[in-house]
Order: sequence, then C-alpha cells, then structure tokens
Amino acid sequence: MQHEDDLVHQNLMSLQTHVLAEEAKHPSATGDLSWIISAISLAGKTIANKVRRARLDDVLGAHGTENVQGEEQLKMDVIANEIIMRCLGDRASIAVLASEEDEEPRILRRSGDGGKYCVLFDPLDGSSNLDSCVGVGTIFSVTLNDPEEADGERTVCQAGTRQVAAGYILYGSSTVMCLTTGDGVDMFVLDQAIGSFLRVRTKMRIPEKGTTYSINEANAETFPEGYQNYLRFAHSSGYTSRYIGSMVSDVHRTLIRGGVFLYPPTAKNPDGKLRLLYEANPMAMLMEQAGGESFSGDLRTMEVQPDRLHQRVPVLLGSPAEVAKVREFI
Ligand code: AHG
Ligand code: MN
Ligand code: MN
Repeated sequence: MQHEDDLVHQNLMSLQTHVLAEEAKHPSATGDLSWIISAISLAGKTIANKVRRARLDDVLGAHGTENVQGEEQLKMDVIANEIIMRCLGDRASIAVLASEEDEEPRILRRSGDGGKYCVLFDPLDGSSNLDSCVGVGTIFSVTLNDPEEADGERTVCQAGTRQVAAGYILYGSSTVMCLTTGDGVDMFVLDQAIGSFLRVRTKMRIPEKGTTYSINEANAETFPEGYQNYLRFAHSSGYTSRYIGSMVSDVHRTLIRGGVFLYPPTAKNPDGKLRLLYEANPMAMLMEQAGGESFSGDLRTMEVQPDRLHQRVPVLLGSPAEVAKVREFI
C-alpha cells in the first residue's frame, strides 16, 4: 500500500500549471511567455489531431507548391503552418513569426505596440514520413524582439544563445512535448481523454554516454573524411545505428536513451541539410539544458551567428562523451 503522503507529492501537473509555477518564480514576469507557450500547446494539440487523421481526411501528399528552399510542400506542411499562425497570431506579445514554410518572417507588431518576442518554427518536421506513419513533429524557438531592428529577417537572425525558450512536440506513438525556458528540460505527454499535456519528467538529463549513433549512412561516401573515420570506429566498437529520418524523433530518442545524432555536410547539402534557426538552435538549447552538447562545424551550434532565416548548418548533438568522440575524428 502506497504511503499516504506519497500521493500528495505525486500531484498531477499539467503544462498550464507548470508554466504558471515557472512564471511565479520570476517576480518581474509579465505572463507574456506563458501565453505564447499556451498558444504553442494549443497548436500542438490541433496539429496532433490533424496528423492522426491525415489519411482519413485525404490531406497526405503534395500541396503542389515549393517552399523557399525549393522543397516540395506537403499539404500537411501548409496545414500545420496555418494552425500555428492562427494559434499564435493573436498573442499580443508576439512581434515576429518566422516559419520554415514562409520565405519571409511575418511582422505582427512593433516593439512599441507590445511586440516583445519572436517565435520561429518548423511546423511539421519529418513530414515526408507522414504517409508511412512515422513520428513527425513541430519544433519551436522563442527569442526576444530587437526593438532597434525594423527588418524582420535581421530581427530573427539572432544566435541561439539568445533563445528564451525552445522545444518540440513529437507526434509519435504518443504526443510528447519537451520544453525548456532556460531552467532545465521538462517532458509532457498529451492525455487525449482530458486534452491536457501532463508533466511526466522534470529537469531531464541526457545519459552521459550512449552507443547509438544516428546518421543517414546513404550519404557516407560524400561525408568529410573525419565523419567516415568516426563511422569506421562506431562500426567496430559495438555501436548500434538508429535513423528515423525525422529530426524530432531522432533527437527525442537521443535525449531519452543517450547517443549521438549527426547531419554532416554532404555533396547535396554542403552546409548540411538542417536549418539553424528553427531546427538546430532549438534542439541545441534542449540538449545543453539537459547536459548534452551540440556543435555545427567547429562552433557550438548556439554560437553560430545567423545571417539568413533559412540558412543550413551541419549538426552534431547528443551525449557529451559521444559528441566528444565524434569531434576527435572530425
Ligand atoms: P522537414 O520535414 O521539416 O523538411 O525536415 C526534414 C529533415 C529532418 O526532419 C530529418 O532529420 C532530415 O530531414 C532527414 O533528411 P534525409 O532524408 O536527407 O536523411
Ligand atoms: Mn524539419
Ligand atoms: Mn518542416
């Protein structure tokens, strides 16, 4: 029989109550960031519902357009983007919204009109896997608006160290949100019966080591030499390979189990494929907040100074011991 007071200490904590509790720790907090996270939560629940119905609602497949990166847009990319815009658009503290799916950032309001935060996001990461029911996700990054900068793109081109919050929602075998506001990483699972994200882990720590490496080995021939040497080391050292091809799924597994995720430069993507501002930086913040590391080339990912909204960087992230091992080779 569980001791009486244990139940008291295992209280049911929803994302909402967690965010309010975090806000209460900062007397100067205005609640603006809480409202943004609440809007992201609403967007996540709405996208989760649509993802799980995509085949029933016949919204799989191509939208018939390309995004600014010349990538074919899927119907669900566009739907997820619209859901996020509708959930975030009326949050009074948002100055700029920037999306993988939009060429230019959307300036909603100037700092003089209360525009305090920029929200950058990948509305549906890994969307090419939707038709095979593989986990896909939404990645988000929140930075402070630069009141001195009138240009939308320059406003959002801030180094990852300036993020005030970051996270993802994974639409996998369950709908999971991992979130940091700068004081550790907390994990929430959507309980569909009550429509709430319930906190299941707090102050997550990535395992120091992990013998799982995650990389698309189809590109191995065109990786820089050092990565190929690392792969030879991993192949002969009892490592296992796991690659889902959805960054959110691969990163979530790495956070939970430990190991390393890499997207190196390739012939097709000499700067790497993943985008700095709304894929690499938010994942780097989560990793570092959980005791992990993230590098893009020789630089700590979050120290790369962006100059374009959709710029790409190589990504190496995960358990400190495993990241160090890769860096020995590259
Ligand atoms: P997106 O669907 O937002 O364009 O992102 C896809 C990315 C990322 O999710 C994943 O890690 C990577 O593409 C996989 O690329 P490859 O298929 O080239 O391995
Ligand atoms: Mn993506
Ligand atoms: Mn995407």
